Amino acid sequence: MSEPATDDRVLLITGASSGIGAATARAAAREGWRLVLAARSIDRLSELSKELGGAGRALAVQCDVCEWDQQQAAVAAALSEFGRLDAVFANAGFGAKRGFLNETPEFWREMILTNVYGAALTIRASIPALTESRGHLLLTSSVAGRRVLPGSLYSCTKHAVTAMGEAARADLDGTGIRVTLIEPGMTDTPFFDSPPSDGMLQDDDIARAVIYALSQPPHVDVNEILIRPTAQSG
Ligand SMILES: NC(=O)c1ccc[n+]([C@@H]2O[C@H](COP(=O)([O-])OP(=O)(O)OC[C@H]3O[C@@H](n4cnc5c(N)ncnc54)[C@H](OP(=O)(O)O)[C@@H]3O)[C@@H](O)[C@H]2O)c1
Repeated sequence: MSEPATDDRVLLITGASSGIGAATARAAAREGWRLVLAARSIDRLSELSKELGGAGRALAVQCDVCEWDQQQAAVAAALSEFGRLDAVFANAGFGAKRGFLNETPEFWREMILTNVYGAALTIRASIPALTESRGHLLLTSSVAGRRVLPGSLYSCTKHAVTAMGEAARADLDGTGIRVTLIEPGMTDTPFFDSPPSDGMLQDDDIARAVIYALSQPPHVDVNEILIRPTAQSG
């Protein structure tokens, strides 16, 4: 597939209805990307789609990342509406209270399925189209995916995402697909019920890192970007 004109490139984002995903959609739209916005909250995706110029520029697709058929449908929507898929940002996820006696087993199951199985399904669904475009796969891990947080099963899920990025890069070597891990520190999004500290990162700070990775020439693979707020030591 030939190098697309800037305004033709297509980026699919999971978890696009809020926080880092929505901020990345806005930043990528400013850079000329066409977007596929995926999450469960179709109402919020539709609002964002309108804000970004309508379905011809930003297509809203309801997708629970734990459902294989819905992940396949999101990629199929990108190809049928836009004719190509150049980048995929596997970003959907959520956290849990620390402590192995906290939360319910059912909540743990949902979190592990969303953060780990969901990201793996996004990779699986998008590899054929990204191989065709010699595209770019990005995954949201976390500082918690690089250091173990006490009692945090969430941290364990993000270690799995970090490993998945490394495993995918090795698996996809030779295809021309680039793989980037985005590893945010504390970022002020609805991820937190209430902001745990002052001086947190903003969603747009992470979006700029995604745009930086996406903006490199084809021979440059930014492997990972770990970002902490200046005031976060751990
Ligand atoms: N905020 C932080 O400090 C921080 C730090 C490091 C890493 N992260 C990671 O950054 C990513 C984005 O989080 P955020 O901070 O932007 O929080 P957020 O505002 O709560 O966004 C989470 C997004 O994930 C989507 N999502 C959750 N479950 C889903 C599912 N089953 N299927 C599809 N989409 C699903 C949500 O959309 P719907 O509810 O509409 O489906 C929402 O769009 C997550 O992977 C998170 O672990 C966050």
